[in-house]
Amino acid sequence: PVMNELFGLVELEEKIRQAYGLRKVVIIPGDSESSPEVKRELGRAGARTLLSFVENGDTIAVTGGSTLAEVAEQMPALPNGESLTDTWFVPARGGLGESMEIQANTIASKMAKRVGAEYRLLHVPDLLSEDAYQSLVQDQHIQEIVDVIRRCRVIIHGIGDAMEMARRRKLDDSSIQGLQADGAIAESFGYYFSEDGEVVHKMLTLGLRLEDIMRTETIIGIAGGQGKGKAIHAVLRFGHENILVTDEAAALEIEKEI
Ligand code: BG6
Repeated sequence: PVMNELFGLVELEEKIRQAYGLRKVVIIPGDSESSPEVKRELGRAGARTLLSFVENGDTIAVTGGSTLAEVAEQMPALPNGESLTDTWFVPARGGLGESMEIQANTIASKMAKRVGAEYRLLHVPDLLSEDAYQSLVQDQHIQEIVDVIRRCRVIIHGIGDAMEMARRRKLDDSSIQGLQADGAIAESFGYYFSEDGEVVHKMLTLGLRLEDIMRTETIIGIAGGQGKGKAIHAVLRFGHENILVTDEAAALEIEKEI
């Protein structure tokens, strides 16, 4: 029975891969929303997938979130004392108002330390006002790190349910209603997406922009849990993803949307 289940997931991986024109899909058994053990496995699969696409010399942009925090936690040291000495880990975007443990800065530095790579941080708060944004973009140190981020070759990012992320970022009621009215289903790297993959809202912060995401060679999305199926589908419809790491519960929901 175990073997059958595994073969079933292989078929589902291939079905999802073809439906969205992806390079690779990895599905792990179970539901990471209800099982911490499955969430750890999802993190492990994410770390393994990331390392299989990284070459020394790459710059890798990472987002925050509990899933990416688990990827960092599960990131193995390289075999034979090897290290990625010319590789840089950077946060994809500024602060984004997450708690410390799941901030992109924390995750980027942790991943870098595990594999002996370098990291740079972007100390920019969440939800910038127009004025704050205008003065921060002028700052030379910030400009430098933003340039490094925008030239990344690999992006690894989480995907969230739009309403859940809006609440987690403590958006006010009228912004939440606005997002709802615009049909926001998913959130990723500070952008909110509708069901058909259109960007309906962006958060004002510094770092990766949509045009960078569109030209980046390797983009790995990682998210699981039954409740995230629709959100993952929405981001896949956006059409710039190329690798998906997910769990069985989310994959079964994605399959319904195909
Ligand atoms: C955020 C990322 O920090 O985490 C988003 O910027 C992502 O890209 C979100 O949508 C997902 O969080 P979690 O905790 O569900 O993995």
